Amino acid sequence: MSFEKSKNVEGKSGGRLKSVYFRTFGCQMNVHDTERMLGVLKKEGIVAVDSPSDADIIIINTCSVREKPEEKTYSEIGRYNFGNSKYNSHLRKKGKRPIIAVTGCVAQQRGDEILKRFPYVDLVVGTQNIGQISELVSETFLTGRPIVKTEFPNNLQIESFPRKQNIYTSFVTITQGCNNFCSYCIVPYVRGREISRPIDDILNEIETLIEGGIVEITLLGQNVNSYHDPNEGIDFPELIRQVSTIDGIYRIRFVTSHPKDLSHELISCFRDIEKLSSHIHLPIQSGSDRILESMNRGYKRAEYIEMIARLRSVRTDLSVTTDIIVGFPGESVSDFEDTLSVMEEVEVDNSFSFKYSQRPGTAAANFDDVVSLEDKSERLEKVQDLQRRLTMKSNNNNVNSTYDVLATGQSAKDPKEITGRSDQNKIVNFKGEENTIGSVVPVKIKKAHNNSLWGEAI
Ligand code: 5AD
Ligand code: SF4
Repeated sequence: MSFEKSKNVEGKSGGRLKSVYFRTFGCQMNVHDTERMLGVLKKEGIVAVDSPSDADIIIINTCSVREKPEEKTYSEIGRYNFGNSKYNSHLRKKGKRPIIAVTGCVAQQRGDEILKRFPYVDLVVGTQNIGQISELVSETFLTGRPIVKTEFPNNLQIESFPRKQNIYTSFVTITQGCNNFCSYCIVPYVRGREISRPIDDILNEIETLIEGGIVEITLLGQNVNSYHDPNEGIDFPELIRQVSTIDGIYRIRFVTSHPKDLSHELISCFRDIEKLSSHIHLPIQSGSDRILESMNRGYKRAEYIEMIARLRSVRTDLSVTTDIIVGFPGESVSDFEDTLSVMEEVEVDNSFSFKYSQRPGTAAANFDDVVSLEDKSERLEKVQDLQRRLTMKSNNNNVNSTYDVLATGQSAKDPKEITGRSDQNKIVNFKGEENTIGSVVPVKIKKAHNNSLWGEAI
């Protein structure tokens, strides 16, 4: 492979490729993929820059989970039209033009269509071809021809690529893809079938991270609790147990889990393993059994409520966060009220909520009885109002209690204060010494805010 322009090929940016600019949309998996691409390109001596006008390569890593992020992708690509955009004319003056790559979920889903709509794009790279970014950039650079690569290889493996959130905490991927086919969701189509990573790889990666000073690990996957070691058949609860025995690990988190795969053993982990964080993100999506069935979620409202009760009976301070979709096709006012009531009944500590967005190729795209945009907006507002009230209640309940906080840095608002996250994954700012950064500090909570807690180190 070569990043030097060959003499007889008209390369696009002239000379040598030295710099890359990333624009990343979407979930943790995408952020992870961006880091992986950067890792691969760095090996070729390419460095990341903060501005597209300084870049030889521009990579737009895209999300298609809802219409809005997909639209953002298109307007972002539109900015780099060689003829039009302000920054491109700046580069043109220098006689240069960057390579434009579109990667990730929209690339996977739309493929060739992207080249048709944006003829100045050089590379379209699907979710499972991200690891080949360097060869693909090199090829389009040398030949001057656009490439679309959106294959699902048969023997896909999850590569080792831990991503540090800061110097104390890191994500570790344990599964990729999803087999659930919730009727609204595009993920199984754009990310492919679920694969699990061998347990030895995971444990080795975590051990290396801990040796390097990391104390908190978040196990990452679209559906982590269906993890199954491909060789030894070890399941998710057993994986957590093994991770918890690694010397030097302080806290274990995981995202995202699915209610239908939440086993008794996983509940027992919350009883037995102190290092497992007192937080679970468990998307419910709707509180109506009719809608849950139509979403193909595989559980009922009562089962979800029961699960949370059992979790909280073994871990009394467990914080529960969830995802909610409003305005799924066929959602009546009464179905929607079931969603509000389940939120109240469970007392969800926080949630991400979304208006249903029709995704091409999914089962729900063919469902009748769509809910109007107006109703969706109104319902979303009601969910978010209720959530603010529930979050405030949950935060108020923390006042006067003391929580262990992993201090990760100075507070952005007041550099005299320290910031970190509690065991329940809530942001805590506190009066404390700078030398506590990197350690676990018991903090007595004095005040509750909408999105954070405030207290004093004791
Ligand atoms: N419309 C609205 N929300 C969606 N999500 C996934 N697909 C859709 C869709 N088509 C939400 C779900 C999921 C979260 C990551 O995004 O709530 O849990
Ligand atoms: Fe999408 Fe459902 Fe898989 Fe989550 S579990 S990624 S919502 S198909």
